[in-house]
Amino acid sequence: MPVNTVEWKNNSLRLIDQRLLPGQLKYITCKNTKQVFEAIKKLKVRGAPAIGVTGAFGMYIGARAINTKSVELFCKSLEKVGDHLGSSRPTARNLFWAIETMLECAYDNIDNPVEKIKTILLKEAKNILEQDKLICRKIGQNGASLIKKGDTLLTHCNAGALATADFGTALAPMYIAKKKGVDFSVFVDETRPVLQGARLTAWELVNAKIKATLICDNMAASLMKSGKIDKVITGADRIAVNGDTANKIGTYNLAVLCKYHKIPFYIAAPISTFDLSLKSGKDIVIEERGKEEVISFGGRITAPKNIKVYNPSFDVTPHELITGIITEKGIITYPCKNKIIKHCK
Ligand code: MRU
Repeated sequence: MPVNTVEWKNNSLRLIDQRLLPGQLKYITCKNTKQVFEAIKKLKVRGAPAIGVTGAFGMYIGARAINTKSVELFCKSLEKVGDHLGSSRPTARNLFWAIETMLECAYDNIDNPVEKIKTILLKEAKNILEQDKLICRKIGQNGASLIKKGDTLLTHCNAGALATADFGTALAPMYIAKKKGVDFSVFVDETRPVLQGARLTAWELVNAKIKATLICDNMAASLMKSGKIDKVITGADRIAVNGDTANKIGTYNLAVLCKYHKIPFYIAAPISTFDLSLKSGKDIVIEERGKEEVISFGGRITAPKNIKVYNPSFDVTPHELITGIITEKGIITYPCKNKIIKHCK
């Protein structure tokens, strides 16, 4: 169910304000880097590929505000824009990948006047958006081969259309399988603390008429024990060269449960989520978010205000627990360093 999660419209960046879903489908417009930074930081836009595409347009928005004719000064200022946008959220590799791609594009074109470089940067951001759409479709095709008639899947967080520019990553195989007429169903973890599963994945799957059932995060083990889950598919925010994968907090729990119950556990992600510079998951920076996400919801206080809170946004699943990583190029079964380097080339 593609929606226009990230769009370039009327010379500005238009995003769905995902904090308001499923109650309201509202758009916000970003015209300066402050607004782009805030949209990422406050989860108005979220999901690794979507914040990557947002970051690419953020770089252009920053570039067009740089007032100089000196290409050297322009590039130095653009690097600062990149540093600023990159400081919004640390874990998703795609944001940094997009910032680096945009900077590289500027440096590759330094023989042009500044105004021309700005035009080239807009074209590059649009290209990153279009590429993300194609990549989602390919991940969908590759992953759909895993979904068999009668399967019951489980997914966590939102790795769907709202997390990308198109079909999603973990949800893309489900959209393709549905199109092919495969009869399957999905359990959706609600995904505390900010309920990306309940608010976003459930919304997407209901709209796409895919058979979906919402569960609380603490229900997966008993469902698995009673044989109700055939496969788990989740997304990823950053994958180290050995296959260790950071994704929404709670993903690791599922992977451990899958191992115990002998259930295949798959990750779906584009190549831009891999960080080949990191040896293992130990090197992945995990974002910690504010306590208000845990002690309140929808304006209602759900815990004493003075309680100490620990709120890591992601966890790392060791590669030994991953049956396969689905990318736009195919499926890396039992991921390890050699296979990943070969696959990402
Ligand atoms: O904090 P979020 O909502 O940005 O976290 C998103 C996730 O963890 C997704 O599973 C991941 O980015 C993959 S999105 C295709």
